[in-house]
Amino acid sequence: MSAPNKSYDPVEVSALQPEALDAARDEAIAAIAAAADLEELKKVRLAHAGDRSPLALANREIGALPPAARADAGRRIGAARAAVGQALKARQAELEEERDQRVLAEETVDVTLPWDRAPRGARHPLTTLQERMADVFVSMGFEVAEGPEVEAGWFNFDALNFKPDHPARTMQDTFFVESEDTDLVLRTHTSPVQVRAMLSRPLPVYVVVPGRTYRTDELDATHSPVFHQLEGLAVDEGLTMADLRGAIDAFVHGMFGEGLGTRFRPSYFPFTEPSAEVDMQCFVCRGGSVEPGAEPCRTCASEGWIELGGCGMVNPRVLVACGIDPDRYSGWAFGLGVERSLMFRHGVEDMHDMVEGDVRFTLPFGMEI
Ligand code: DAH
Repeated sequence: MSAPNKSYDPVEVSALQPEALDAARDEAIAAIAAAADLEELKKVRLAHAGDRSPLALANREIGALPPAARADAGRRIGAARAAVGQALKARQAELEEERDQRVLAEETVDVTLPWDRAPRGARHPLTTLQERMADVFVSMGFEVAEGPEVEAGWFNFDALNFKPDHPARTMQDTFFVESEDTDLVLRTHTSPVQVRAMLSRPLPVYVVVPGRTYRTDELDATHSPVFHQLEGLAVDEGLTMADLRGAIDAFVHGMFGEGLGTRFRPSYFPFTEPSAEVDMQCFVCRGGSVEPGAEPCRTCASEGWIELGGCGMVNPRVLVACGIDPDRYSGWAFGLGVERSLMFRHGVEDMHDMVEGDVRFTLPFGMEI
């Protein structure tokens, strides 16, 4: 630092005097050293290195000096500002390091601590599969409908054109609530919700009905007294079996993959006429396992086809029972088994696994929602 320049105007340039500059620099450096954290350092930076800091203001006075003295004063200010700048930089680095160490220490997670959260479990795969199946129809514009599991015999049978002597109505198949005379049953299928939908909704009706159903079967590898179905119903003007086939195809493609074929086989249900069983091409071997010498397929038992369920055109008698004019409206319906679908879609071989409630069965299906 050079000696005082006697030719300075003491009033105009007092801020440029070496003592003043040294004092401003020392004050700045002391404040920097005293800054306890980054927030404080920010304020110190503004006060001692900002546009209105003593050194910045002194810098502005250089112009007031006689030309011969300017370079010298400029150098001294430069040196003072550089010293402040360096101190700031060093303190900034120090405080950042301190902060990082603190954060590391404070936010440490001990991954070796014992795990004490309660297990969350998983939704049952029948529930998620049933929702997923319904979703494919929802994406086609169908609404989800529901009905009671304790159902009036009239909805479960009569309105669906089951004659009074139909074998399904006997104690062998149906759980009666209280006695056979009360006409209250545990619904044996989701088809009664067809009737409820037609009676309660304005036409046209497009509904899909996932739900629990009951029959007096013993629990074994392929049967359960409680099971699930997915029912579908469309009632509109001009509907044909081609629309039914198209909807089933779209379902199969949405659920099992593009390009899989479907086929209808003639069948009988009291509430549909004509009626069919619907099969889809096996999504694993795509029919290849039926070729001579081909690898056997476990999914379709080398049949090439997998049975999906029943379907057909809504019997005009059912439309009439629901107060719908069969000359103007036609409908189609289908019913698919959810357990069956879980069996072939996920290779579940024993119905016991689905009903026993062991989380070791449900967990691998994950938390799909
Ligand atoms: N309800 C029938 C059953 O449980 C399944 C079924 C067949 C439903 C044909 C339908 C249908 O809607 O059209 O076996």
